[in-house]
This record gives sequence, structure tokens and C-alpha cells, in this order.
Amino acid sequence: MKVAIIGTGIMGCGWITQCAMTGNEVQCYDSNADALAKAEKTCLKLAGSAAKRLKIDDPEFGEKAVKNIHIHQNKDAFMDAAKSCDVFLEVIFEDLKLKCKVLGELLPQLPENVIFWSNTSSLNIDIMGEAGGRPELSIVTHGMNPVPLMPGVEVVPGAKTTAETVEFTRKALLEMKKAPFLAPNIPGFWVNRLLVPQMLDAVRLLEQGKIQVEDGDIGLNTSLGHPQGTFKLHDFVTTPTMLRVGLEMYQASNDPRMYPPLTLMRMVKNGEYGASSGKGFYDWSDPRNPKARDLSQYVIGTAEDMTDTLK
Ligand SMILES: NC(=O)c1ccc[n+]([C@@H]2O[C@H](COP(=O)([O-])OP(=O)(O)OC[C@H]3O[C@@H](n4cnc5c(N)ncnc54)[C@H](O)[C@@H]3O)[C@@H](O)[C@H]2O)c1
Repeated sequence: MKVAIIGTGIMGCGWITQCAMTGNEVQCYDSNADALAKAEKTCLKLAGSAAKRLKIDDPEFGEKAVKNIHIHQNKDAFMDAAKSCDVFLEVIFEDLKLKCKVLGELLPQLPENVIFWSNTSSLNIDIMGEAGGRPELSIVTHGMNPVPLMPGVEVVPGAKTTAETVEFTRKALLEMKKAPFLAPNIPGFWVNRLLVPQMLDAVRLLEQGKIQVEDGDIGLNTSLGHPQGTFKLHDFVTTPTMLRVGLEMYQASNDPRMYPPLTLMRMVKNGEYGASSGKGFYDWSDPRNPKARDLSQYVIGTAEDMTDTLK
């Protein structure tokens, strides 16, 4: 199969690696030159981790996989290559307006039979499908981070998605060694409908001074078997993505538990994005040994604490 992927950030690189290491040809593009420049190295590293996890005894596994990846510096060249692909997968920022603008510009340039996949973690596929002009061929394929290590993929059809699109997608994902499952087209689908309010509640309890980062994660790890706990997961997902996902889900549902806590907004403002920026709920100066941070400066106990944040 041939896949065109737009967005080479955290999840884009995950999907590019998964497609490439299961023998599919991948064309990719990102509007950010830095993200594009890092993509091949990131994919090589991800393929190496996947080989280790899958016990693949081939020292050249990663090198062979990246041969299937074609990185385009130029959007027009990418779109030319995308025309001969079976699937166009978008993995750009979690921003409905932006996604619709990009899809409205790009999808009409593709042949009518190209299937559209979105890796959105919470947005409505009906709106994206209409924006791209091919709602019957549009479907969410929400992969989990890191894609080559986490098999699950939420498959979310929209109101107009055809049964053929669902079946094609399910089969294609199985061939890519993923574990697809059907999920409802509601804000957050299945996984994030349950996970996001829990993660945001954890930050609310932290800013109330009720829980510390390390205790919170040890608790979830040792009691519920969550490998990363909740704060480390925030750091991998990144605080800007959590902020976007929470806001989009709040706007779509009006559920106050989805509204991002002030601490998340302050961390994004302060550049504390998580593992990739070196600082989030943990200090990642030594990525192999992240240290839980003392975030007592974010505790909101009084009205003055709130107004201080506005200065
Ligand atoms: N981070 C996670 O754990 C996670 C998990 C599941 C799903 N998702 C979803 O995956 C998508 C991407 O998230 P991410 O974490 O990879 O974000 P990211 O910020 O790491 O990457 C997004 C990339 O999109 C690129 N981009 C933005 N606008 C663009 C445009 N107009 N044209 C081309 N490229 C553009 C950016 O330059 C960036 O490199 C979002 O929809 C997010 O909700 C994220």
C-alpha cells in the first residue's frame, strides 16, 4: 500500500515508522522545516525500539524500514506523490479550524478514490470529511503514542462513511500489524472520552495542592498498572496537545471536566511542554532518568494566587 502523511511531529513520525516497517511506501511532508529535518532520525529510533520490543533479530531492520520513506520539503511535490497513494493520513495539530482549512485545500487535489484517515484524538470526522469534500471516504484512525509500540487504533466512521471505507481501513490496519477497534463518533471517541477528564482531574488535584507528581504516578502505576501514571503521560502527550484536546472536547461537549486547568495553560505559556522540551511535570534533563518536579508554585490556594497568574 502507498500512504501519504501530512505532519511529521510525534504521532506523524510514529505512523510513518509503522507504515514503513510493515513494507508500505510512505510520502510525507510538514510545514515546519525543523520537524521535517528530524523525521528520518526519529523514525529510525522508533523502528529500533519496535524491533527490540518485537524481538526482531535484524540489526538492519530500521535502515531497511526508512528506505520506504520519502520526505518532501515542498508541499506541491508531496501532493504530486500523494496522487498515487491509497490513503492520505493527516497528523497535524489538534485544531479543527486548521485541519478543515488544510483538508479543504489539499483533498480536492487527489483522485476521487483516495481514502482519507485522520489521526485526531477527539475531533468530529463529519466536519473534517465535509471540509475535504469526500465524507464517504473519510474515517478516523486514532493511533496511540508511540504508534510502533502501542497496537491499538480507534476506528471512528462518520455519518456518511461507507461500509467499504470501514472495511478497507480495518483490513489495511491489520496488514500494518495494528489492532483496530470501532469507537463512537463522540468527543474523545472511546479512549479519550474516559482518559482526558481523568488526566485533567489529576492536574486539578495537583493545583489544589492535594497530590504531588511522583506520588500520583506511583499510585496509578502500582495500583492500576498504568505504566506511566498520569503526569508522565502528560509529558509524553505534551502539554500543548493536552490543552488543545481538552479545549476542543470542552467546546464540543460543554462538559466542565474537559475544561483545561489553569496549570496546564501556565505550563504551556512557560514553554514546559513535557519530555520533548526537557521540562514538564518532570525534569527531562536526563531523559533516561526523569525527575518529578516540585510544582508547588502552581498550587492555587487563594484568590491572590489566581490574580498573580495574570501578571
Ligand atoms: N501526542 C499524542 O500523544 C497524540 C496521541 C494520539 C493522537 N494525537 C493526535 O495526533 C495529531 C498530531 O499530534 P502530535 O502530538 O503529533 O502533534 P505535534 O505537534 O508533535 O505534530 C504536529 C505537526 O503538524 C505540523 N503541522 C501543523 N500544521 C501543518 C500544516 N498546515 N501543514 C503541514 N504540517 C503541519 C506541525 O509542524 C507539527 O510538526 C493531533 O490531532 C493529536 O490530537 C496525539
